[in-house]
Amino acid sequence: MAQYARGAAAVAVIRICNPPLNTLSVKTLLALQQEVKHANIDPTVKAVVICGANGKFSAGADIKLFSSPDLGNGPSLASVIDLIEKSDKPMVAAIESLALGGGLEVALGCHYRIAHMQARVGLPEVTLGLLPGAGGTQRLPRLIGVPAALEIITTGKHIRAAEALKLGIIDEIVEENTVEAAIHLAERVSGQPLGPRRLCSKQIPRLPNMEAIIEEALVKVKKQARGFLAPEMCFQAVEASLHLPFEEGIRKERELFLFLLSSGQATALQYAFFAQRNMEKWTLPSGASWKTAAPRPIQRAAVIGLGTMGRGIVASLVKAKVPVVALEQDKNHLEQGRGAVMAFLGGEALRMQQNNQMLDVQKPGLLHFTLDFSSLRDVDLVIEAVFEDMAVKKEIFHKLSTICKPEAFLCTNTSCLDINEIAAITRRPHQVIGTHFFAPAHIMKLLEVIYGQHTSPTAIATVMSLGKAMGKIGVVVGNCFGFVGNRMLIPYRDQMNFLIEEGSTPEEIDKALEEFGFKMGPFLVSDLSGLDVGWRIRKEQGLTGARLPLSTPPRHRNGIRYSPLPDILCEKGRYGQKTGKGWYQYDKPGGRVPKSDPWLHYFLSDYRNAHNIMTRTITQDEILERCLYSLANEGFQILSEGIASCPEAIDTVYINGYGWPRHRGGPMFYASQVGLSTVLAKLQKYAEANPDIPSLQPCPLLQKLVALGSPPVSKWSSFVESQNSKL
Ligand code: NAI
Repeated sequence: MAQYARGAAAVAVIRICNPPLNTLSVKTLLALQQEVKHANIDPTVKAVVICGANGKFSAGADIKLFSSPDLGNGPSLASVIDLIEKSDKPMVAAIESLALGGGLEVALGCHYRIAHMQARVGLPEVTLGLLPGAGGTQRLPRLIGVPAALEIITTGKHIRAAEALKLGIIDEIVEENTVEAAIHLAERVSGQPLGPRRLCSKQIPRLPNMEAIIEEALVKVKKQARGFLAPEMCFQAVEASLHLPFEEGIRKERELFLFLLSSGQATALQYAFFAQRNMEKWTLPSGASWKTAAPRPIQRAAVIGLGTMGRGIVASLVKAKVPVVALEQDKNHLEQGRGAVMAFLGGEALRMQQNNQMLDVQKPGLLHFTLDFSSLRDVDLVIEAVFEDMAVKKEIFHKLSTICKPEAFLCTNTSCLDINEIAAITRRPHQVIGTHFFAPAHIMKLLEVIYGQHTSPTAIATVMSLGKAMGKIGVVVGNCFGFVGNRMLIPYRDQMNFLIEEGSTPEEIDKALEEFGFKMGPFLVSDLSGLDVGWRIRKEQGLTGARLPLSTPPRHRNGIRYSPLPDILCEKGRYGQKTGKGWYQYDKPGGRVPKSDPWLHYFLSDYRNAHNIMTRTITQDEILERCLYSLANEGFQILSEGIASCPEAIDTVYINGYGWPRHRGGPMFYASQVGLSTVLAKLQKYAEANPDIPSLQPCPLLQKLVALGSPPVSKWSSFVESQNSKL
């Protein structure tokens, strides 16, 4: 605690200090409590300023604390805030940079709040499956009203200082020295009555149409939540502030907080947060890792093919301020690609402008569209995004190998093709690497980074670093058909199709998975991305094609169950939204609103009759178990083969690229939460009933983990390593 005496009033300055973000650990809270107590009893102190060390107020509670044995060992955050609020001396929060979560709750306990114009405030606990548990749900509505507090608390969004001032969260904004300004404010208000400044005793602002507002807010929260508990619990806590006196509201908040803490969803979200953060620390089976490989700078990149993927990749590179050469095969495609890229970037420039940032797309040298391969001579890295056709890709890589400078990295944006086969056509296989972006590539965060047999650690480090600059979450994975994400989709999609053969419907399956937490059911996703994409791949694999159509195409390929349903739909021109018909019907080609299609139901019924399938009622549990456990089962296989280095990698891929609900932690975490022995028993049951579906046979790794007593996810990798080192 430092003191500043000016005239009659001495202002004590308390700095929250726990670098880098001044999180509120047990030790920090203890120090804050002691300093506030000192200030309270020191007769020379007339007012107090609370600020954060190193120009940051506080990023809130230390999330590791929730699962730490230290929880409960020191003063609670709520009790420290209570001490601050009840003080007889004015307490002024000087908010620099950020006051988030518990940090903002401390500031709300203060009697005045002053912030720097660049500061951000917010209560993001909901994003970690929790709610503000130190009075935030009771104080914020008393300060700014229920509707605004609901919006902030149920979404967890960050609020910039200017908006926080408008809402009344802060009292003043400053452009210069926030702490100095807070000391002035403290001096000014010293001696003034504090009663009206204590949020705990403030009346909640009431609106005439409050009931309707509350109802509307609840509908919105429920619609977005899809099985995610925290937004609704946040809602309930804020609603309590409307009906209950402060102390009772605090008790309700506590009760809801503890419920969420024990729900498993908060654990899943914290797991997902750390899993994602750890992806930067990749290690290869060879021992090479992020520690041993330095990325090379990319001064200029190129993208080949400006279709669905290429245009988004170009936009992401430009956004990251990497100059790009964008190449197409003919003028028509080039102009279409240029138009799309400029439209994406125009939207982005507007968004950035609103946040006082600049994106000058016209900057000379930033973006060059061409048909001429010789323009690629001096680029440092090329991303190929042409058709998913091995022959076409090989032709391009052969050309690149001769045209590009020897040190240039050559990346392929393939969905499933063999990186080694593509690399082998070049004279620099160590510089060849897979970069699997997701559609739309300028928005989706995931980037699977696939190393081939010869890919150098420098190539991986460079692509990971470039991906990060592009705002992507890179996950390093091994080479196999479909890599991690698309490979796991194969058994999952098979189950969807088998289930509708057996009597379920696309509507039922979509509903079950949406209620589980996916934003969109799998058949709706399939209609959106186009059934023809998978059809083309299956044709290349020889799974379907020349022999079809038959009136009753066989339901097996080489003795293994295979559903021809998606192929038949494609043969009928039902590619999904793009043709106006797929698993659902749309009002026109390109239409977006799905409607159940009676034709499809008649067709399914005829199909089942033709194959003598006894239709049965399929429960929601069976839908979820067969789809999700077969997905996780493939994950165990991928893990045991070393294609994914750890379960966290699989989960990060699924959350960020495949719409897996974050509050379920990812398929591997989910399997561990359900219980590995349960997953194993269910898979065994379904495999016995369906001996012609090998993907339901439990993976040996899953069986071994169950035999070991189902260790937690964090222990699986070391078990796999020890198994593989014995081989
Ligand atoms: P697309 O068909 O939309 O675009 C491919 C583009 O490449 C076309 O504009 C075409 O004119 C151009 N092209 C073809 N040959 C060329 C050549 N020799 N030189 C220059 N340009 C050439 O394909 P899409 O969907 O963008 O896919 C591209 C790659 O990305 C594929 O390997 C695909 O598997 C992969 N991918 C696709 C995803 C998707 O959702 N569409 C998701 C992730 C990966």
